[in-house]
Amino acid sequence: MEQYAIKGGNPLVGEVEIGGAKNAALPILAASVMTDETVYIDNLPDVRDTNVLLKAMQGIGVLEKRTGRHSVTLNAAQISSLVVEDENIKKIRASYYLLGALLGKYRQAEVALPGGCDIGCRAIDQHIKGFKALGAEVWIEHGLIKTRADKLVGSHIYMDCVSVGATINVMMAASMAEGQTTIENAAKEPHVVDLANFLNSMGARIKGAGTDVIRIKGVSRLHGSEYTIIPDQIEAGTFMFAAALTKGDITVKNVIPKHLESISAKLLEIGCEIKESDDAMRVVCSKPLRHTHVKTLPYPGFPTDMQPQITVALGLSTGTSIVTDTIFENRFKYVDELTRMGADIKVEGTTAIINGVGRYTGASLSAPDLRAGAALVVAGLAAEGFTMVDEIHYIARGYEDFHLKLQALGAQIELVNSDREIQKFKLKVG
Ligand code: UD1
Repeated sequence: MEQYAIKGGNPLVGEVEIGGAKNAALPILAASVMTDETVYIDNLPDVRDTNVLLKAMQGIGVLEKRTGRHSVTLNAAQISSLVVEDENIKKIRASYYLLGALLGKYRQAEVALPGGCDIGCRAIDQHIKGFKALGAEVWIEHGLIKTRADKLVGSHIYMDCVSVGATINVMMAASMAEGQTTIENAAKEPHVVDLANFLNSMGARIKGAGTDVIRIKGVSRLHGSEYTIIPDQIEAGTFMFAAALTKGDITVKNVIPKHLESISAKLLEIGCEIKESDDAMRVVCSKPLRHTHVKTLPYPGFPTDMQPQITVALGLSTGTSIVTDTIFENRFKYVDELTRMGADIKVEGTTAIINGVGRYTGASLSAPDLRAGAALVVAGLAAEGFTMVDEIHYIARGYEDFHLKLQALGAQIELVNSDREIQKFKLKVG
């Protein structure tokens, strides 16, 4: 079983190139089935979730040509099936983006019910409400979510909660519906805007993405496009917090600083220095971390996907911090693992009360999900002694070459596969 072996205590120093955003790449890949013409996508992250989605798309007849590690051409002119049942697809949340994309283009789709990280009840009622408002039937049968429409007609849809996935799915289907759709209480995340820009580059007519009202004029066909995916806000944020935890000096390159505002505001509050340029952010941390309070919120609020990373930092701070996750109700499962490193954190419902302890000590840990897994690795890099992290397949879902990028910053971390390799690592780092 693959694990990360870590020897903590080194300040991480240097520059790290941030890849394309996983959560933008997934809907953009799915949306490329909405044209018969060829689509070229660049800055694609080479992570497990995007690769699983691409494989499922190949399974229904999409022609894929990798033109580089981070670029792909896709052609969906010869789709052979509207049933997406690939054995791995239900493991990823974004499988359901093929529903909106195929429904929009073909008026029909069947997709294995989505999985994703187990971070709480992840309802899909708003996706279903949106599809039904456009005139589709939606039902669940034999583990598949199925949708069909004789015709799709634009509608006025008020989302009962702010949902990234539902906004994206409805935006895709509505792009090829007849007439105008308005989505109110829409999600404003950068990846929602990136998908809207991609669809518009294919000839869609979407206005207002990035605000809470999105207006879409349906078109009857979409054409090919060349598109570059935005940088990954969460990968960047994770490295920025790695600087904070290890008292390091890290510059994240190829980022959009505007997308990182809520993250850098918290880093400043807890005592880090931030230097911003057009497409890079430098985080320097030389003082003990201060406590603060955090509430995760939809964009532009502090992202739930950064909640574990800030919690592990606050566990090392001076004083008491309170972190509340308002988006997912079961996102503190990693706290038990952190406690084994010496953290003093009490979880009550969706709130964690953190008494900073000033130091962590290395331990054997298990990654419970993608972002918490990355946060535990960063905690290990800040801890005294050795840490082992297993179940790291979760981390590979959303971080490309995570340990290699950390190594380049001076981290003592290695991917190990056996007791022998663990011993070898321990001898090497002393
Ligand atoms: C996406 C991201 C995930 C991120 C989350 C919130 C992808 C692939 N995943 O997940 O990394 O943590 O946004 O930023 O982009 N909800 C409902 N009904 C619905 C849909 C959602 O009640 O139909 C609720 C959810 O249970 C949750 C909240 O709305 O409490 C937000 O979920 P949503 O924004 O939809 O998250 P995802 O799109 O699943």
